[in-house]
Amino acid sequence: MTIKKTILTGVKPTGLPHIGNYFGAIKPALDLAKNYNSYLFIADYHALTTFKNANELKENCLNIAAAWLALGLDPEKTVFYRQSDIAEIFELNWILSCFSAKGLLNRAHAYKALVDSNKQANKDPDFNINAGIFNYPILMAADILLFNADIVPVGQDQKQHVEIARDVAESINSNCSTNLILPKPFISKTTHIIPGIDGKKMSKNYNNTIPIFLPEKQLRKRCMQIVTDSTAVEEPKDPDTCNVFKLITYFKSEAEIKQLSDKYRSGGLGYGAVKQDLFESIINYFKIARINYDNYIANPAEVDLILEKGKQKATLVAAKTLADVKKSLGL
Ligand code: TRP
Repeated sequence: MTIKKTILTGVKPTGLPHIGNYFGAIKPALDLAKNYNSYLFIADYHALTTFKNANELKENCLNIAAAWLALGLDPEKTVFYRQSDIAEIFELNWILSCFSAKGLLNRAHAYKALVDSNKQANKDPDFNINAGIFNYPILMAADILLFNADIVPVGQDQKQHVEIARDVAESINSNCSTNLILPKPFISKTTHIIPGIDGKKMSKNYNNTIPIFLPEKQLRKRCMQIVTDSTAVEEPKDPDTCNVFKLITYFKSEAEIKQLSDKYRSGGLGYGAVKQDLFESIINYFKIARINYDNYIANPAEVDLILEKGKQKATLVAAKTLADVKKSLGL
């Protein structure tokens, strides 16, 4: 009998999930979860590195939990919890920090980028950088190693953090008699190509997203704002360079895509009509998810109960790993 491998990933509660998140991260993670032991958590302590205010954090946590549940996460199959609910993560975090070279953290891209931008602006290199940002990769290593994760689905920007977790696991395993699993990042191929309304990669950093759960009117408005060229309705158009076309392919069958691209090339099709088609396709595709999302948002206690159950399941595993590590260290 082969033992099922474990996948684990964390999501920071920042902003409303958008179509790029869905096809780049959420859907691939949900698909993987079907065949693995799976853990998914809300990385609320990671969000504290850029904390703005309590209400916003609370609201974002509810939104992100509701979104994953509405989009198909099955809490009976996937252990679904809040990072801040698992005290063992933070105990392991300290232990791991004592086995992590400071130089390893100096080289983390996210921290380095902030240092570089301070230097560019002739400021102190560590201006406005809290120690949480510096230690971010260690906390992430604790998230991962505590649950014996083999595979960690992440976006390209988080790949190095998973590699750091692996380095840290190797370091502690070779110094002590611990046997922490060495995790591997899993990068979904589609992450790179989903365009936002301005044609750049869809990202909340560029303010170009189409959030999945916007009210209909606003969602339609976002679709109508997608940047296109100024080719007139009757003229032939190139589907391959059109942002609306690229987006709509996620919602249509091969045959429908072929039909639409023929219409682009033969002329007579206006961008407004394709945008309307995209809007309707999004609403249709996410119809059930949108209803479920509204239900969860209206019943936050239901979401809390699900996360509480997840906490209990996660704690069983976390306590065991932590106890083993402590024993190996003579603690
Ligand atoms: N840092 C990740 C992000 O910003 C979120 C995260 C926190 C995470 N802990 C994790 C992802 C552990 C995977 C595994 O997206």
